[in-house]
Amino acid sequence: MNKNTLSRGKFISFEGGEGAGKSTQVNLLRDHLSGMGIDVVLTREPGGAPGAEEIRQLLVTGEPDKWVPMTEILLFYAARVDHLERTVLPALAQGKWVISDRYADSTFAYQGAGQGVDRAVVQQIHQLATNNFWPDLTLILDTDPAVGLSRATAREAALSEEQREDRYEKMQGESHARLRQAFLDIADKNPERCHVITGGGTIGDVATQISQQVSAIFGLGL
Ligand SMILES: Nc1ncnc2c1ncn2[C@@H]1O[C@H](COP(=O)(O)OP(=O)(O)OP(=O)(O)O)[C@@H](O)[C@H]1O
Ligand SMILES: [Mg+2]
Repeated sequence: MNKNTLSRGKFISFEGGEGAGKSTQVNLLRDHLSGMGIDVVLTREPGGAPGAEEIRQLLVTGEPDKWVPMTEILLFYAARVDHLERTVLPALAQGKWVISDRYADSTFAYQGAGQGVDRAVVQQIHQLATNNFWPDLTLILDTDPAVGLSRATAREAALSEEQREDRYEKMQGESHARLRQAFLDIADKNPERCHVITGGGTIGDVATQISQQVSAIFGLGL
């Protein structure tokens, strides 16, 4: 296909709290779309490019109060710009679909609603850093935080101390409830882009909801 006929790929992000099922479901959606002949790049935030993965380590390990909120936001955006420029935008330009395990809504939820930074401030940084770049579709996995945390804790328990990426899981229970609400509020405010998926069912049930939603939105398999 030459440059003139190549259409831009779609950018899909997955959001939701700890253990909601994002990493499980991004893999299943990648398999589903690949099976339909779509060229898919699977990526994640923070991270998704070599430099951004280095910044990830600063964010996902250590104690919950390691960073002041503004430093944390700026680290996320330092990683996000690297991820966009090095991974997401080139893939979309090549007509590939990009599925990201978290994107900017997580910053609005965790650092905005969760840590009390003014949403307008996060929006200003988002504008400056990304020129207000948002996914074509965001799937918000809504799972009871108690269920999500017990899933995530069981997963982390199988890892060594050095392998654990549990900084956000160590936050207090009340913050997880606030986060869940923050993601639901984001979905309410952005009904065109965001769709809420109930994450409490079996892995197969959730995957079916997601593939049906994605097919309906992008007109696949019709
Ligand atoms: N629907 C489900 N039912 C039961 N277990 C699940 C379900 N979805 C995922 N799991 C399991 O729960 C654990 C957490 O799931 P996963 O890693 O996909 O969540 P996550 O949203 O990516 O979490 P985190 O925010 O911590 O990265 C994994 O061990 C996974 O196998
Ligand atoms: Mg995950």
